Amino acid sequence: MEKDIFAVHRPQWRTHIGFLLAAIGSAIGLGNIWRFPYLCYKNGGGAFLIPYFLALILVGIPLMILELGLGHKMRGSAPASFASISKKWEWLGWWQVIFVMFGIVLYYSVVISWCLSFLFFSFNLGWGNDPNNFFFHKFLMVSKSPASLGDLRTPIIFSLLLVWLLNWIIVFKGVRRGLERANKIFMPLLFVLTAVIVFWSIRLPGAKEGIAIYLKPDFTRLRDVRVWMDAFGQIFFTLSLAFGIMITYASYLPRKSQIVRDSFSISFINCFFSLFAGFGVFSILGYMAHATSVEFGKVVKESIGLAFVAYPKAISMLPYFPRLFGVIFFAILTIAGLSSAISILEAFSSAIIDKFHYSRKIVVSVLSVFGFLGGIIFTTQAGLYWLDIVDHFLTQYGLILAAIFECIVLGWIYGVKKLRTHINHYARWHLGRWWDFSIKFVSPLILFALFISSLSNEVLTPYAGYPWLAIILIGRDWLIYTLFFAIIVAAHPWRVEPRERESSS
Ligand code: ALA
Repeated sequence: MEKDIFAVHRPQWRTHIGFLLAAIGSAIGLGNIWRFPYLCYKNGGGAFLIPYFLALILVGIPLMILELGLGHKMRGSAPASFASISKKWEWLGWWQVIFVMFGIVLYYSVVISWCLSFLFFSFNLGWGNDPNNFFFHKFLMVSKSPASLGDLRTPIIFSLLLVWLLNWIIVFKGVRRGLERANKIFMPLLFVLTAVIVFWSIRLPGAKEGIAIYLKPDFTRLRDVRVWMDAFGQIFFTLSLAFGIMITYASYLPRKSQIVRDSFSISFINCFFSLFAGFGVFSILGYMAHATSVEFGKVVKESIGLAFVAYPKAISMLPYFPRLFGVIFFAILTIAGLSSAISILEAFSSAIIDKFHYSRKIVVSVLSVFGFLGGIIFTTQAGLYWLDIVDHFLTQYGLILAAIFECIVLGWIYGVKKLRTHINHYARWHLGRWWDFSIKFVSPLILFALFISSLSNEVLTPYAGYPWLAIILIGRDWLIYTLFFAIIVAAHPWRVEPRERESSS
């Protein structure tokens, strides 16, 4: 019998709860705590929950099952799993992990470094009386346009270095001693701290008004296609789908795994966390509106401002222990961000280890250095603009395109029924035929419609009013170069040919 090198050497989660916490840790991130509440507010309050939950049911959960099922069956990282289907599709796995590693995690780690800096500022409310001026002009020192890079912001570089050190230490130690152990600490801590903040906030004067605005449905907003795009885009980002992460994490599961039940658990816990954290965010903003007698609409302006401007302002106004509140809030953001960043680093490291058989320690160390150096571009004075453009292109186009291809490859080429049979073989919750229909038709069609409408919006109006040249050079080309790179790596021969592998316990 042919020796299956992957089955022999593949690491495995020590416990099932360890896997669940790591997957939930990847899903819950910066996107849940300030992006979700803000999107909710902007897109019709409670009415936004309708497209959000539809996106979860129609696309989010089916794709979560697909990714976990694929990784579990093929026992490989994203490129190894796609290569096991056909070498022709290996590039798709590489593209996912490359644009996530050399795109998303570069700026994502910079945002975590801002959170970490604000955690330290919280000890003496270092943002002063004008957090807006502090954040944009003193901390980031934002330049006039994406083209004027200005100087490097040394304080941000130092905290970025700290973030990459943490990413490195955790992933370096491997699946059990690194990722599993870190998430077993991070996740309970995150849940407890978030509960503290939410219960603290909802008791403040003005909180009820804030919550009413958060949840009050404005159904007229549902006529706007951008509301639907925001909801579907958010579901992808928040569930870490098309990042190559869930495929990799599932590849470390034992044979007898409950893919369907785990997919539902991860997705629902993540979305419930967003909903829950939103109560805290809106309560404190309601309190701020109450304390300053400013109209609520004027306290919430933009997503980045929500966490780094509006929140610090509200924290400074708290009657009791504002510093403690600030430390907890920014610790929550930092922990949530870190548990997602390490999953991205792991997805890429695992891909390199599978294909080239280098040692984990070397791969993770080299990637962490690249990650840190690559992030430096976002610590310049134009960093905020670059971050905004890259984020927009990679999440709106990269993730959605990669997911459309996933549906085509699994649904039409490999055969979704084969994967369903594999999943059902071990599952206590059986997956019905509805799933085949969803992967073959519903998900790709919705995603395609979304992709086309995003693109047509883009052509009509440049994103956020940036110059076209900046959008093309930074956003579009980032995606094209990563695709090019993915095709080259995929063409490189394997040390050990990938093939379809049944997982072993
Ligand atoms: N899923 C992670 C987040 O929401 C990337 O931030």
